Amino acid sequence: MTVKSEKLAITIVGTGYVGLTTGIALAYLGHRVTCVDNNPEVVEKLKKGMATIYEPGVEELLVEAAANLSFSENLLDSLPDSDVVVIAVGTPAKYNGDTDLTYVENVAREIGASIAPEKFLVVVNKSTVPIGTASRVDTVIKEELRKRGLEGNYSVASNPEFLREGAALHDTFYPDRIVIGANELQAVNVLRQMYAPILEQTFTPPRSAPRPENYGMPAFVTTAPTSAELIKYASNAFLAMKISFINEFSGIAERVGADIREVAKGIGLDKRIGSGFLNAGVGWGGSCFPKDTRSILFTGKQYGVDMPITSAAVEINHKQRKRIVEKLQVALKVIRGSTIGILGLAFKPNTDDIRESPAIEIIAELLDMGASIKVYDPVALENYRQHFPHQDITYASTVEETARESDALVLLTDWEHFLHVPWQDLAETMRQAIFIDGRNYLSGEEMQNYGFTYLGIGC
Ligand code: UGA
Repeated sequence: MTVKSEKLAITIVGTGYVGLTTGIALAYLGHRVTCVDNNPEVVEKLKKGMATIYEPGVEELLVEAAANLSFSENLLDSLPDSDVVVIAVGTPAKYNGDTDLTYVENVAREIGASIAPEKFLVVVNKSTVPIGTASRVDTVIKEELRKRGLEGNYSVASNPEFLREGAALHDTFYPDRIVIGANELQAVNVLRQMYAPILEQTFTPPRSAPRPENYGMPAFVTTAPTSAELIKYASNAFLAMKISFINEFSGIAERVGADIREVAKGIGLDKRIGSGFLNAGVGWGGSCFPKDTRSILFTGKQYGVDMPITSAAVEINHKQRKRIVEKLQVALKVIRGSTIGILGLAFKPNTDDIRESPAIEIIAELLDMGASIKVYDPVALENYRQHFPHQDITYASTVEETARESDALVLLTDWEHFLHVPWQDLAETMRQAIFIDGRNYLSGEEMQNYGFTYLGIGC
């Protein structure tokens, strides 16, 4: 079906990964977008065309989409004229695994307080939120409207986000599917219009996000709001489980002498399984899988529903960090007094994000065990330093410097940069040339030829 591609007025609240990427992309597609953030510094930077997140392509697109894009600290500036308001604020985890909805509720309250009485507005939940939040947002808006003696003309929809950090623009322009959970057809139709250029791929791809070859049209999936909310958690838990599954098998592969990369290839070719997210390694990190698995486990507990598969995925992920330390213990015999070089602090490549990065737990444990630690990351060094200012570690500015006089190197992030290091020159600069590849990223055979004792995960 062809969708009318009329331009909409859209307000996006929150300029994190999801909000900023969505805002810039929708502006690039021709909609009139205002991105709102209550942090004046962030708004100032964005107005100057400076990206506030490290994400490939975002800065270029900020410039390309500038004509349709404005930034504000105040929701009131744009909300009364908007057709759609997208809530994309943070939903941090509470200490018990529950999700803190303070920011979402504050925005809902502001929306209720400033919504125009007649104009139809679609309120979209894009933040990852527990089941029932669309309904909660509706209740909060209603309460505020009641205070104003109004009923309002709006509808709340859930539109979960599936973009990956480091590939955010690509995933926004070329998604597999767009999921809309809504109770009212009018809301679905407005959102179909908002996404029309993506659903029909009628836009000229931006330079920073070329259209992949063989890309088909994305599916448009409409569901009840609670189903959409659960789709998000089920997707992330499934992907996390897939990684934990291959990591579990990497343990048995090591024991029986199989190569987990061959195993992953062999099973991934079965279309029912699929080849993605089967790279064994040090485990998953980031702001999403750890938080979302904890959050859905919390929900399960609230409802008295056991979720042993998701629980096991979390447990296995934790064990993967331990396996690195165990490998070092076996290789070095004694960790105390040794110098260990950590290559990669970001939870994955192409981001400076270190949230729940495997490096954090591993470095802390090795320090506790009496090791000296040197670290290197092409992008995330500064971010790490800011988060752990008192940690007694050495920040190296090159891989070569990290290797010099170290007893072991541990690769924890699969940065492409590490493929281009002159490894052949480095083994001899080390005290002991032990190399643990926590991402199975380099060729073990080559590294052995260069004089390293190379150990992967499950191979
Ligand atoms: C993840 C999902 O992939 C997105 O679809 C989702 O929108 C996002 O969470 C979110 O909820 O906001 P992200 O956390 O950015 O995206 O990163 P991923 O690329 O999924 O990687 C997550 C972790 O898994 C990383 O630490 C990565 O190194 C690890 N990983 C990934 C593996 O260990 N093995 C793999 O095969 C793949």
